[in-house]
Amino acid sequence: MSEEIKKFKVTIDGQTTEVLPGTSILEAARQIGGKSVPPAMCYYSKLETSGGRCRTCLVEVSKGSEADPRPMPKLVASCRTGVMDGMEVKNLTSEKAQEGRKAVTEFLLINHPLDCPICDQAGECHLQDLGYEHGVEGTRTEFERNTYDADDIGPYIKLNMNRCILCARCVLAANQLTEKREHGILFRGDHAEISTYLNKALDNDFIGNVIDVCPVGALTDRTARFASRVWFTKPVNATCKCEKCSGKAVLWMKGDEIVRVTARKDQYDEVQDWICNECRFERKDPKYWSIEGPRHIDRHSVISLNHYEKPKDYYRQLDNPDAIEIAKKDEEKIENNN
Ligand code: SF4
Ligand code: FES
Repeated sequence: MSEEIKKFKVTIDGQTTEVLPGTSILEAARQIGGKSVPPAMCYYSKLETSGGRCRTCLVEVSKGSEADPRPMPKLVASCRTGVMDGMEVKNLTSEKAQEGRKAVTEFLLINHPLDCPICDQAGECHLQDLGYEHGVEGTRTEFERNTYDADDIGPYIKLNMNRCILCARCVLAANQLTEKREHGILFRGDHAEISTYLNKALDNDFIGNVIDVCPVGALTDRTARFASRVWFTKPVNATCKCEKCSGKAVLWMKGDEIVRVTARKDQYDEVQDWICNECRFERKDPKYWSIEGPRHIDRHSVISLNHYEKPKDYYRQLDNPDAIEIAKKDEEKIENNN
């Protein structure tokens, strides 16, 4: 008879859940859901060893565990910190964590161009959402920014290194989904950049998925570049007969035209089923697809709201009075700044 594994109790922003040992704080927060889930720019549950690079998921651990209740001295990356039994974590209820996230956002935006008006990722960009929620007006630094020329890596993918935040998701996706490793992060520190080895083109059957895992507009679909702003297109669930992948995709339609094809993603913007290059780039004719119906995009971003406003269900699942108090203060601050 198998022994039952004892679950750990963890409380995040006053909401308690039980998880298996080895679960990260971020995954425990996702189990609770709502606004207590920290944002994640580099962690991707479908990719092994992802996380620990961007620090957007910082949280405060106010109680280490039942056995050792001392708080952790510094903010921790929730995607890489495992829960302990009796742990208490503050995300939305921690001003320190909110301040830390603001600083990380400022840092991520230091070299990032403010080119949302001409970026294909606008409307579904995690950095845009992060900047909207935690960004500061203006800049405190004056120096020459790192700039790079846009590059075609392979027949289907455009790399705009200017926008890359070096989360490494694309490198992990390429390593874990395809048989050949042809690109990676070259150099170190602020010279680090994504590049193909020996100028090899990325032509593996599943390489198009790097576009979907990229949280910003650094990797975009060359077959759909500048075709339409994402909020002018209608996402529909569709399937096709495919021998290489599940054939389950989302078609982004403008009238009868298929502007772009992507994988289906969950509320954390993580791909549910990887799709092959043929489905993504070659099947732009509706004759290939059976349309199932409209795709509901369950993300708090422009793409699901269709406008730049706070979602109406902002306080959804915030039954903790401290969390509501902080969220209200946050909202007042934004209103006073407008
Ligand atoms: S190109 Fe995109 S996915 Fe790759 S490291 Fe840069 S930001 Fe991350
Ligand atoms: S999501 Fe945790 S460090 Fe990037």
